[in-house]
Amino acid sequence: MLIDLSKIGMNKGQQYETIITTMDKNQNTNAAPFGLRVLDNDKIVLRIFEGGNTIKNIKENGEFVVNITTEPLMFTFATTNTITEEYLTRISKTKTHDELVYLTNADAYFICKVENIKTSFREDDPIKASKINIIKAVVLEINVKNKCVKPINRGIHALMESLVNYSRINIVNKEKEDYFIDRFLESERIIKKVGNKEEKESIKILKENLKKQGYEL
Ligand SMILES: Cc1cc2nc3c(=O)[nH]c(=O)nc-3n(C[C@H](O)[C@H](O)[C@H](O)COP(=O)(O)O)c2cc1C
Repeated sequence: MLIDLSKIGMNKGQQYETIITTMDKNQNTNAAPFGLRVLDNDKIVLRIFEGGNTIKNIKENGEFVVNITTEPLMFTFATTNTITEEYLTRISKTKTHDELVYLTNADAYFICKVENIKTSFREDDPIKASKINIIKAVVLEINVKNKCVKPINRGIHALMESLVNYSRINIVNKEKEDYFIDRFLESERIIKKVGNKEEKESIKILKENLKKQGYEL
């Protein structure tokens, strides 16, 4: 079967927030949220700071599963390290991959094999100097469980917050106004980094309108 991430709404050049499930050598499971960027229909890149379980397991096994879900609690449990076995399904070893694990109620999941890992050092403010692993992986298999699957992108959420604040900026006091401007600039940063074409165009329109109203940004 042709592997094509765009069939699950993941387009080339875009970043999406996902939950990655892995296993260690002793078949202990792990789940944690990570952003990924789509390089091609069947290729992705991850940037993972050194020190966590996911990167350790990926280095050990060379394989991992990317889960697509929009469920807030799954992201919260994954972030607070409380995804227990009851939320996970194990997949047996096959000719193409080893024993793996996926998030049972994910809308879709796909199995990845590491192509290469390069390390880099991130030292830019506000991140403290840290080693980062840049992992390029090829997608071996996509499983769609909900045909309306739509991966999370931070751009639309940042834009919605900006739109709401924009609609209120004329009716708040100076302190709140400054807060909204700071939030706007942070949302603009996120959208420039991970947003799609329409989100970038939208934040530009909002900025022009705020400037026309005399706000300094
Ligand atoms: C939505 C979201 C996206 C994240 N993306 C990344 C990422 O791209 N790279 C990274 O190193 N950490 C990222 N994190 C932080 C990791 O999930 C976090 O460090 C986690 O504790 C790692 O868990 P682990 O030790 O089980 O691997 C993200 C967190 C969230 C909530």
